[in-house]
Amino acid sequence: MTSTKDFTLGVLTSGGDAPGMNAAIRAVVRTAMSNNARVLGIANGYEGLVNGEFRELGPRDVGGILQRGGTVLQTRRSQRFREPKGQREAIRRMNEAGMDGLIVIGGDGSLRGAHALATQGIKVIGIPASIDNDIWGSDIAIGVDTALNTIMEAVDKLRDTASSHGRAFLIETMGRNSGYLAVMAGIVCGAEIVLMPEVPSTVEEVAQSVEDAYRRGKTHAIIIVAEGANIHTTELARFIDEMDVGFDTRVTILGHIQRGGRPTAFDRLLAARMGTKAVDLLLADQTDVMVGLKGMGIVEISLEEVTTHERPAALIYYEMAKMLAR
Ligand code: F6P
Repeated sequence: MTSTKDFTLGVLTSGGDAPGMNAAIRAVVRTAMSNNARVLGIANGYEGLVNGEFRELGPRDVGGILQRGGTVLQTRRSQRFREPKGQREAIRRMNEAGMDGLIVIGGDGSLRGAHALATQGIKVIGIPASIDNDIWGSDIAIGVDTALNTIMEAVDKLRDTASSHGRAFLIETMGRNSGYLAVMAGIVCGAEIVLMPEVPSTVEEVAQSVEDAYRRGKTHAIIIVAEGANIHTTELARFIDEMDVGFDTRVTILGHIQRGGRPTAFDRLLAARMGTKAVDLLLADQTDVMVGLKGMGIVEISLEEVTTHERPAALIYYEMAKMLAR
């Protein structure tokens, strides 16, 4: 093992930002400092790695960021880093800066990048952070809990107006190809219907379910539509209107509001646990692994496994949401 006194680690955030990324950066920097290691913050994700946008970070540089959403290191979706040429340039930049290891905080694409670097001899540890919760190997990623709370607050408000007017509200949530946020929102917000990519439906079936809810005496219908669902939200609203099922419809696309905001206590704690563990692993000469949460414990999973598996759909929760919507 390298003496931690001589160890320089880089840290970057990549892909879509997620609330709690700052808390993870802070944990990485301060854990490294406590072990006498040096930290270089890399701006703009892999794009900054390719460009050599490095700056030294000390404990004071990460003061006052724990409670802030977004990422002080900034993030990008880098096209250049996907090419072997970009990766070679990134490695050259790291060597030039005397970087002994790297911590990557990001989603599935970012972790694939981390694995690519590890297979080329760079010591890399991944930390899962993405509101989509579509990463294999961790029960939950940093940012998911905050996003879900943001959705819950928005839907609670929309329900007030939906029931006052006797309307059906179609509320679109993020998640890319994953229905995790939508289905969990369905449960915690008591939605009448959830549409997720993993369970395709037809507009006719959905309109029928909305009509059934009306006939059962509901004063409103909340329909959570995952952005990756097979039915387009506004087209579905138009169809339900045409079918005259009892409720008028309105559409709300929650959009990027779900990515911002103060991280919840859960996300701050998760970020602290994952950030400290990632540094411990790197200083113990580990590489090519991601830290994850399994049950109540922090574990490590190989990046090979993480990047070659699809996280299964939350189907048990889909059934639960349906049953509780009666
Ligand atoms: O991966 C996070 C996420 O917010 C997805 O839910 C969404 O599909 C995508 O990023 C949006 O990307 P962008 O911020 O580049 O528009």
